[in-house]
This record gives sequence, C-alpha cells and structure tokens, in this order.
Amino acid sequence: MTGPGRAGGEWVIVVHEAVKTYSVGSVAVHALRGVSLAVERGDWIAIMGASGSGKTTLMNILGCLDIPTSGHYMLDGIDVSTLDDRELAEVRNSKIGFVFQSFNLLARTTALQNVELPLIYAGVKGRERRRRAMLALDAVGLSDRVEHVPSELSGGQQQRVAVARAIATDPALILADEPTGNLDTVSTSDVLSLFGRLNSEGRTIVMITHEPEVTDHAKRVVRLRDGMVIEDRRQAPVSGPPPLYAAGAPSSVAAAR
Ligand SMILES: Nc1ncnc2c1ncn2[C@@H]1O[C@H](COP(=O)(O)OP(=O)(O)O)[C@@H](O)[C@H]1O
Ligand SMILES: [Mg+2]
Repeated sequence: MTGPGRAGGEWVIVVHEAVKTYSVGSVAVHALRGVSLAVERGDWIAIMGASGSGKTTLMNILGCLDIPTSGHYMLDGIDVSTLDDRELAEVRNSKIGFVFQSFNLLARTTALQNVELPLIYAGVKGRERRRRAMLALDAVGLSDRVEHVPSELSGGQQQRVAVARAIATDPALILADEPTGNLDTVSTSDVLSLFGRLNSEGRTIVMITHEPEVTDHAKRVVRLRDGMVIEDRRQAPVSGPPPLYAAGAPSSVAAAR
C-alpha cells in the first residue's frame, strides 16, 4: 500500500499491560491497571470514559509524554517504554502529530509559521519547510489564510491550522485530545470531516472525546473505567472509509466558506 504513514508494518500502537501508578504522599493512585491496546495502521479510535478513568494518563503514554510504571509500549515498531527523556522527545517529534482541545497555537505567529514549527524541530530547512507547511495548510483548506495570526481566525480555522501542524511532518499517528471540545457545531463537523478525509487517506487517528456524536465518526470505540478497558467496539472496518464519511462529497469545510 502507498499513502501517508503506511510504511513500516501493520501496528502503529501496541500497548501491553500498561500500569501507571502515581504516588501521592503515602498513597498510591492506580491511574492505569493493566491496559492492553493494539491499533492497526489506518484505524480511527475514539477513547471514552468518565473523568478520572485514566484517559489523559493513557494519552500521555501514547504520546510519549510519560512512560508506564510497568508494561510495554511499541510505537510504530519502537519500544518506547525504556527511552530516556531526550529519546522520547525525538520519537514524539517524528512519529506523532498532536491536536489539543485548546488548539495550542503560538499567538502573534502566522498560521504558516505555526505549521512550520514541527518541521523546524525536524531539521527541515528553508524552501522545503515552507513548501511542506503550505501543502499541509492546503490540505486543511486554509491556503488563503496562511499569513493570519490565530486571533484573526475563527475557532474552527484555528483547529484546522493545528491539524495542519499535526500532519506537516507526515507522522505515523495523529493523537487528538478532545479536538472538538472548544468548537461550535459547525466547526466540529468541519474538523470531523477533515479527520474523516485524513483517515480515509490512510492516517491513523486516536482521539479522546466524551461526546457521543463525535464518537460516531470513529471506526472503533474504546471505553475506560477505573484505569481499565471495559469496552472495545468496532463501528467500521479498518480498511475502508470511516462510518460517517462520504468520499467525494463536498466537505462542510469547503461548503461553509
Ligand atoms: N500526576 C498525577 N498525580 C497523582 N494522581 C494523578 C495524576 N494524574 C492523574 N492522577 C489520577 O489518576 C486517575 C486518572 O486520571 P486521568 O488520567 O487524568 O483521568 P481522565 O483524563 O480520564 O479524567 C485519577 O484518579 C487522577 O486523580
Ligand atoms: Mg483527562
């Protein structure tokens, strides 16, 4: 197969018996109690669960921001459970594109410069960097907004810049933490149809959400409770389009603007 992020094997994520225990004073808090999760390339997973169920802890591990107390994590074929901070940062930059609830764009910095940032960390220089950033902005339908700073963009547009930033390095995994949590209905459907297109092009997406309407768009739903997986439900096959995505239909991104 060809296409973004398809090189290098079938499994993007293999988590085996991940345990995360925090010590708070003399008390041990069991945030994850043996989570196993394998994510195939091209899948789109929604992780759900009540507050305190371990979603953020799991995302931090998946995103190489933290390592499990015990257990293993293979990301795109690399065993990351044993890496030091510097190595984790390197893997994070090359393998993962992050999308956050609050966009996390640099203020007073243009859309183009925001998208160029991960490419700077990746050592991509000059014209090539600009070219790739422009391509990513084009892919999210924002070619005509590249010189705008975040305050000159709507919430939905800012999140699309963040998605462009996430895909600029062509990562193996897009990791999104409540990506529609701060968006109105129209912008939510913009971002979801954008994710739908990226996923139908072969990109692997893991997103945290607590909104059932958002979960409906994913191919698979994993539910956490008390640090354990209590449900793992497939809504659509890995190969093929996500459930609510109509290939070829004009996306609301294009239609709304
Ligand atoms: N840094 C930390 N130190 C101590 N306890 C933590 C820490 N982070 C999370 N926890 C605890 O771990 C459990 C899971 O938290 P979290 O992963 O943030 O859940 P969620 O994101 O689903 O709300 C909770 O009981 C929380 O209080
Ligand atoms: Mg959380």
